[in-house]
Amino acid sequence: MAVNKMRSLALLSRHNAALYNVTSRPSSWWSGVEMGPPDAILGVTEAFKRDTNPKKISLGVGAYRDDNGKPFVLPSVRKAEELLISQKLDKEYLPISGNADFCKKAIGLAIGEDNPVIADGLNVTVQGISGTGALRIGSTFLSKFFPGPKVVWLPAPTWGNHVPIFKHVNMEVQQYRYYDPKTCGFNFSGALEDISKIPEGSLIMLHACAHNPTGVDPKQEQWDELSKVVKSKKLLPFFDMAYQALHLVM
Ligand SMILES: Cc1ncc(COP(=O)(O)O)c(C=O)c1O
Repeated sequence: MAVNKMRSLALLSRHNAALYNVTSRPSSWWSGVEMGPPDAILGVTEAFKRDTNPKKISLGVGAYRDDNGKPFVLPSVRKAEELLISQKLDKEYLPISGNADFCKKAIGLAIGEDNPVIADGLNVTVQGISGTGALRIGSTFLSKFFPGPKVVWLPAPTWGNHVPIFKHVNMEVQQYRYYDPKTCGFNFSGALEDISKIPEGSLIMLHACAHNPTGVDPKQEQWDELSKVVKSKKLLPFFDMAYQALHLVM
């Protein structure tokens, strides 16, 4: 099956080459492609490499490092890899919505295995490719099917890719206050005030934990208050739970 597919792709590309006479393809096809903006995080990494301070620590990229600054893979991850290899899994295609067992475990981890929403079959869970892929699926779904305003309210600041991902699916991006540079903490009153002014029935994104890029999270009692406002304004919360690699629309 896969071999047939590859053969038909090869035939197709030969056909296209003949059709469009690829060798003389007009260069103007791509002349309108603009250079993307430089990656802000890579800039931080470059500045880190140039810095000669022996006590320097790179906090630019969220990946584990050992005491010598070398990549560190958690023993649990190594163990999981070994378990997977020892199972000698087949390499068949998964269904469109992903691996059913993985989806079941993922939603259980995210909202609690004993959550009635799971028992009542009131959730739909699909597997994406990484956090970015899940955001892409979630935002495309919302852009197509969300019946409310095609506007998403993001915390200010937020992970840099949230804005382009939502803009790519033609959603307007608005922001609510989140970080307070004076206290280097959560601007709880600002967030509450802004969220309480969001039009009823809108879409709001919340970082479930380890807010990127600030690392500042609400306390439990602040979550409770935020939850009350979100419910009273009938907002649809979209949780980005990146550090468990899960993205949830509740
Ligand atoms: C808040 C947030 N969402 C999504 C992602 C993307 O996750 P992934 O690297 O799995 O694509 C990240 C990664 O830095 C993140 O911090």
